[in-house]
Amino acid sequence: MPQLIAYLNGSYLPLSQAKVSVLDRGFLFGEGVYEVVYHHAGKPIAMQDHELRLKRSLDELGIAQPTESLSDISQKLITDQGMDNAKIYWHITRGVDTTRQHIPEKNLKPTVLVIAWPEPDHAIAQGPETIKALLTPDIRWQRCDIKSTMLAPNCIAKIRAQQLGFQEAIFHRDQIVTEGTSTCLFIIKEGILQTHPQDHWILPSITRKQIIQIAREHQIPVIEKPFTIDQMLGADEVLIGSTTTIIATVTQIDDHLIGDGKSGTFAKQFFKWFFEQA
Ligand SMILES: Cc1ncc(COP(=O)(O)O)c(C=O)c1O
Repeated sequence: MPQLIAYLNGSYLPLSQAKVSVLDRGFLFGEGVYEVVYHHAGKPIAMQDHELRLKRSLDELGIAQPTESLSDISQKLITDQGMDNAKIYWHITRGVDTTRQHIPEKNLKPTVLVIAWPEPDHAIAQGPETIKALLTPDIRWQRCDIKSTMLAPNCIAKIRAQQLGFQEAIFHRDQIVTEGTSTCLFIIKEGILQTHPQDHWILPSITRKQIIQIAREHQIPVIEKPFTIDQMLGADEVLIGSTTTIIATVTQIDDHLIGDGKSGTFAKQFFKWFFEQA
């Protein structure tokens, strides 16, 4: 495959040549935010939601908004590189200081990086993936609603899950389940979907919003209310979702099988509805 082209601070250049200063505050302090946008069959899914969430994350951290249009840059990267399905990555940091100090210099220009990676088609016939997940304490900070690049707790949990043969880790605070390390989470019991309320303990996941919307359009009741580990283990189905996974069924959590331990009916139905409306 030819080398990918990245956009960095006004230039389009081969990915291996995209370099950032060691005085970048994203590198020094983790002061950065990101977005992942999925392009399906040549068009972006929920672009406006991603733009709005990025804007909010930047505002919450007091990082200047980029002046360039990230959607235009993304479209150019996709068109120029002949991609149909792609995962687009936006990464913005507070910018480059002249020294390392907690208080940033005034009027820093944010560092703006955009990369498009080709993605295999989420073939509808293939259906949702089934995965096994590990339960793990949620050791993240108290602003999980900001899509920050500080993902060390998420990475630690996912690496541990992978080492133990699981594909995702599910966070809980005390007995309350929050979300996956990189996924929103729903349980289904007796036909009712339930998910953690949208507060500072979870990311405002765009897939979560889409799943709720699709459910409401199909008269499926949705409750946004905290639930416990025991409630999750006793659910008929557990679903995770994200921009790139779309929807997957969790068939096993630690050593407990969920429902009948097979790909769930709801997951299959939602996956189909998702692509019908995409
Ligand atoms: C912690 C966390 N929760 C949920 C999600 C899913 O978010 P979205 O549906 O916007 O991709 C992600 C995606 O990266 C995430 O990192």
